[in-house]
Amino acid sequence: MTRTHEAGAMHGDYASLRPAWLGVPEDVNAILPQLWSQNVERAAGVLHIGGLSVEKLAAEFGTPAYVFDEDDFRARCRAWTEAFAGADVFYASKAFCSKAVLRAAAEEGLSVDVCTAGELAVALAAGVDPARLGLHGNNKSLAELHQAVEIGIGRIVVDSFQEIERIEAISQELGRRANVMVRVNVGVEAHTHEYIATAHEDQKFGFSLTGGDAYEAARRVVHAGHLNLLGLHSHIGSQIFDTAAFEVSAARVARLQAQLQTDLGITLEELDLGGGFGMAYTTQDDPQPPEVIAASLRRIVEHECAGAGIDVPRLSIEPGRSLIGPAMFTLYEVGTVKPVTLSGGASRLYVSVDGGISDNIRTALYDATYSATLASRSSSATPALARVVGKHCESGDIVVKDEFLPADVAPGDLLAVPGTGAYCRSMGSNYNHVPRPPVVAVRDGQARVILARETVDDLLRLDVG
Ligand code: LLP
Repeated sequence: MTRTHEAGAMHGDYASLRPAWLGVPEDVNAILPQLWSQNVERAAGVLHIGGLSVEKLAAEFGTPAYVFDEDDFRARCRAWTEAFAGADVFYASKAFCSKAVLRAAAEEGLSVDVCTAGELAVALAAGVDPARLGLHGNNKSLAELHQAVEIGIGRIVVDSFQEIERIEAISQELGRRANVMVRVNVGVEAHTHEYIATAHEDQKFGFSLTGGDAYEAARRVVHAGHLNLLGLHSHIGSQIFDTAAFEVSAARVARLQAQLQTDLGITLEELDLGGGFGMAYTTQDDPQPPEVIAASLRRIVEHECAGAGIDVPRLSIEPGRSLIGPAMFTLYEVGTVKPVTLSGGASRLYVSVDGGISDNIRTALYDATYSATLASRSSSATPALARVVGKHCESGDIVVKDEFLPADVAPGDLLAVPGTGAYCRSMGSNYNHVPRPPVVAVRDGQARVILARETVDDLLRLDVG
């Protein structure tokens, strides 16, 4: 174990460059359990998952690759369903969508939330029962709505007055009744990045609570001939740690649900409180365990229902990130290492890997923070303030903005970035015609490809000239 102190003379005054939250590690080789999936460890210097070394995985499957700890994902699914026993846990497939993952979620007792025909197709191909699917989206196409009603989807979460009319017309035409929830914008300002906060007033999702639209939408659904109102839905944003934000939103939506029951003389069986529960990307993140979240949400909903004198509805939630995010890491190979000395003498080590913004756009898009470790060996070199960058042609192509890596990190080393299961592959692109990496699942010590590596031929196939 290497001990170091802040004034690492070898690399200049990096104290002035590193963010306040990033301490100089006592052991630059340490694998902090809160940042990694549960079956990852460093053994004989090398990172292992489920007993398989990353060197073996890289040799067999190539780099970059997303490495998926399936046992960890399944354990998280169970932890959430146990904490929310008596409620429905929907896996939000937008976080990561593949047949193997949706099948695993369903096998662990989860329902699945989809928001496009593409995600729906994967869920159906995975064999998920349509009755256990929820369909989201602020602009679902007529074809998507038609298919949803036709297959008897469990619920459609409506997001506009036009959509209520469309689903009613389709249901009438097909001679079906559609189960519907009304998405309410509860007006809670969650403390997260603006682009992933969804319940402040000035944005596109849901019916406004304060303006009365949510009440009116629910009233119209109740009076439509072919719609069945299950209850209300709210989702306040993503990567939220503040349970108070969830509590305020749950209280508001439960209160409206109670008011609708009393005014319209109906019983609404369900209440969906959405997803958005935060996960740990770096040591600054401290997520609440599911049982704490479950207890606080239950308490609030029970309190509101008792006050209104109505029965407590069946709850549902829709976590995506907190289930899949921590269950994957991205394995890269280092191509170049470049110390960059800035005016003032401070120095930063630019470590270029064989992927980048095409496999993880979150750093560039949301200023997201990640961590990284040298995976193919341990090192006794001094920690150096590093920036992990990709191979794309722009300077914003940053994977990990600030991390301490051993100063001897070198071309050919493998580097692993944990916490990349959510919104990395699913938001991946082919920028610069870089094919997207495969997803390699490890379960019971066995590795298999669940999403194949894209090839340049795949891209050329679409280029019809
Ligand atoms: N339910 C609804 C209605 C949602 O819109 C979302 C996410 C979720 C559940 C799941 O949220 P989660 O538990 O995964 O936070 N691309 C952004 C995140 C966008 C989230 C969109 N909706 C990111 O990379 O941070």
